[in-house]
Amino acid sequence: MKQHLVIFDTTLRDGEQSPGASMTKEEKIRVARQLEKMRVDVIEAGFAAASPGDFDAIQAIAQTIKDSTVCSLARANENDIRRAGEAIKPAKSGRIHTFIATSPIHMEKKLRMTPDQVVEQAVKAIGWAREYTDDIEFSAEDAGRSEIDFLVRIFDEVIKAGATTINVPDTVGYNIPEQYADTVRQLIARVPNADKVVWSVHCHNDLGLGVANSLAAVLAGARQVECTINGLGERAGNASLEEVVMAVRTRADVFPVETRIDATQIVPASKMVSQITGYPVQPNKAVVGANAFAHESGIHQDGVLKHRETYEIMRAEDVGWSQNKLVLGKHSGRNAFKSRLQQLGIELDSDEALNAAFARFKELADRKHEIFDEDLHALVSDDVVMPEHEHYKLVYSHVCSETGEMPLAKVILNVGGVEHRGEAAGGGPVDATFKAIESIAGSGAELLLYSVNAITTGTDAQGEVTTRLAKAGRIVNGNGADTDIVIASARSYLNALNKLYSTLDKVKAQGDV
Ligand code: KIV
Ligand code: ZN
Repeated sequence: MKQHLVIFDTTLRDGEQSPGASMTKEEKIRVARQLEKMRVDVIEAGFAAASPGDFDAIQAIAQTIKDSTVCSLARANENDIRRAGEAIKPAKSGRIHTFIATSPIHMEKKLRMTPDQVVEQAVKAIGWAREYTDDIEFSAEDAGRSEIDFLVRIFDEVIKAGATTINVPDTVGYNIPEQYADTVRQLIARVPNADKVVWSVHCHNDLGLGVANSLAAVLAGARQVECTINGLGERAGNASLEEVVMAVRTRADVFPVETRIDATQIVPASKMVSQITGYPVQPNKAVVGANAFAHESGIHQDGVLKHRETYEIMRAEDVGWSQNKLVLGKHSGRNAFKSRLQQLGIELDSDEALNAAFARFKELADRKHEIFDEDLHALVSDDVVMPEHEHYKLVYSHVCSETGEMPLAKVILNVGGVEHRGEAAGGGPVDATFKAIESIAGSGAELLLYSVNAITTGTDAQGEVTTRLAKAGRIVNGNGADTDIVIASARSYLNALNKLYSTLDKVKAQGDV
């Protein structure tokens, strides 16, 4: 009989701590819905005390999600815990995750607290958290570099105080599998009442060992793994959800646990997170990379054709890769379009959003021969489904680009209901277009990232553009897709400007707290 392995997804919290990966409230809700659909057990929706924007997003997710526990992170202080408690209040099932550092270097140099003070603060934190929920997780930050005797002591105290999940983070990705597994095994053996709590692991990937350490810990008795989609996260990232889940499933002969994850939702989740954050997935990334199931060498191709399992340990379709072309064409109706979106797990909130996406679909179908599911995912970005949120709208764009001449762009923007014209020369057509937009918007935002990816194959593929802008300490990602990459770029730039314009409440990044 297999035991349950709790999958705790922290894409919306630790994942969002990747530089530039910040998401809007609407984007976080979209990701949370996808995580729920994938049957993640716990969604760490954010860090409520980090900013009013984070608080709102957690609260909205708590109101929306019914089939996963919704969790907020909180430092071990009263204000953080009360903010977390308030944010998760609407959740059907809510958790507070509180943490304090336990390694000598963190206690002495960062917290400037003695070990006794740290234990006392941790116990108090659990007391405050219990005013809101019985589902309380305690993390010993930098447990990977903490003394085992001290971990035994603090875990004993917080369990007595009411913690129900005990997390042993390798915060700086310093551990190696055998040693980390040994730490977890010793803790489970030595901490009183260890069998009354769920033991959890949270491994960073600084040495590329996040997944290996997490899996070694599962073999040592851990029954919760904290992970993120595409391994997104602080610095080198966190253990990747898709790799942990598929390892446990593919090597069921080795692992005494099973998850409740619907693996067919993994690739859609990966694409969604990559599109929203602007973090591309490397082609050779396990499970979700474009080449993860591609066989290049003749010997491999021959083997797979003769018997798939000669070179494949998982099936692409089991993790959600599909070859599905849209069987609808430009003459297809709104209902057929809507039902394909539903099959893809894309739910639009209003008829207005559906109409806007459908209009874009028709427009695309006129220009593009075959429409793939990936095209549909790109169609539902914010600027398409929520045009009313757009302060800046693209009305017209023209670029003149000739050999030996400097490209010149002209744009017309609708800004808050009034049309403005701008024009500029630039190093290339995209540069000229961005400058023409700025000649109107005058945002002064700094361009941190510009990237273009072909969504599908063929020269008529849509280019998906991500533009990352920074202004006044805030960073936003804009997306745009079109078969014309200058138009896609203009849309992506305007999408980022609209986010800068509308998310003024997000005054502090998580890392600033
Ligand atoms: O890496 C870490 O230690 C964390 C904790 C807050 C769990 O993210
Ligand atoms: Zn972390």
